[in-house]
Amino acid sequence: MVDRIEADKVLQEWTESALYWEKHSATIRAIFAPVTLALIEDAGIVKGQSVLDVAGGPGEPSLTIAGRVGPTGSVMCTDAVAEMVEAAEREADRRGMTNVSFRQCMADALPFGDDSFDVVISRLGVMFFPDPSAALREMSRVTKPGGAVALAVWDESEHNPFLHVVTEVMSRYVETPPADPDAPGAFRFADPGKLASIVTEAGAIDVRERFLNFHIEAPISPDEFWELRSATSATLREKLANLPEEQAKRVAQVVREAANRFFPNGQMNFPAQMIIVMGRKA
Ligand SMILES: C[S@@+](CC[C@H](N)C(=O)[O-])C[C@H]1O[C@@H](n2cnc3c(N)ncnc32)[C@H](O)[C@@H]1O
Repeated sequence: MVDRIEADKVLQEWTESALYWEKHSATIRAIFAPVTLALIEDAGIVKGQSVLDVAGGPGEPSLTIAGRVGPTGSVMCTDAVAEMVEAAEREADRRGMTNVSFRQCMADALPFGDDSFDVVISRLGVMFFPDPSAALREMSRVTKPGGAVALAVWDESEHNPFLHVVTEVMSRYVETPPADPDAPGAFRFADPGKLASIVTEAGAIDVRERFLNFHIEAPISPDEFWELRSATSATLREKLANLPEEQAKRVAQVVREAANRFFPNGQMNFPAQMIIVMGRKA
């Protein structure tokens, strides 16, 4: 059963996050480029294909894939939040890209006909959908027979210090109840097999799952890391806003100290692990 109040809250949070995701979009593009590459490889995306990106945020992996499919191919970048879609469109315009289209829509109500796309992908989106099963059925419906659906989600927190180095410090200052494993959240599909079984139930065949180990790397300082993390996460923004100013400053300082070991030579380098699930429409 979908909790509508919870679903609306999630969308409201993403709406408020959009301006920060656009502000930091160049860094976000760089740090998750290995994930985009894994999706492209696993789904077998090549020149001339039509690709749907579900929950594309401010434009990734849509814009990278648009380069891969080239002028004879096309990408449809979608997101539930208008401000995210507008940010993606601005970036495509800035780059003079002509093979990407944009549409605001929910993942579980895709406004496209059956069998429309060669490939459907979603990077770091599916764990936030109110009804992932309904979304996967929609993604499968709009995929052409034989086409691929490929998804990337976070693996467990302990394998991802980019996330837990902040949440661990924050939990010392703000009471943090354990997350409901079936509610929208970063680690909802961190259990191996959990997302793959939903993809299978949605009708996909040849479903495969793999871990992607990579490094979250960018030429940014611990200060800039803190700015990125504290701005782009709605949960962190809310917790920080509720702390007295002195404590919020203290959290920022402790996070920077804790994160310091992931900045060899002054540049960010976190080990990271995600799960890539891919299936095919029969
Ligand atoms: C973590 S961001 C990922 C953005 C982008 N794909 C990336 O990897 O940089 C999650 C995105 O999911 C979108 N989203 C959340 N719920 C959604 C839903 N039900 N349908 C479509 N998009 C949704 C949010 O608006 C947000 O842009």
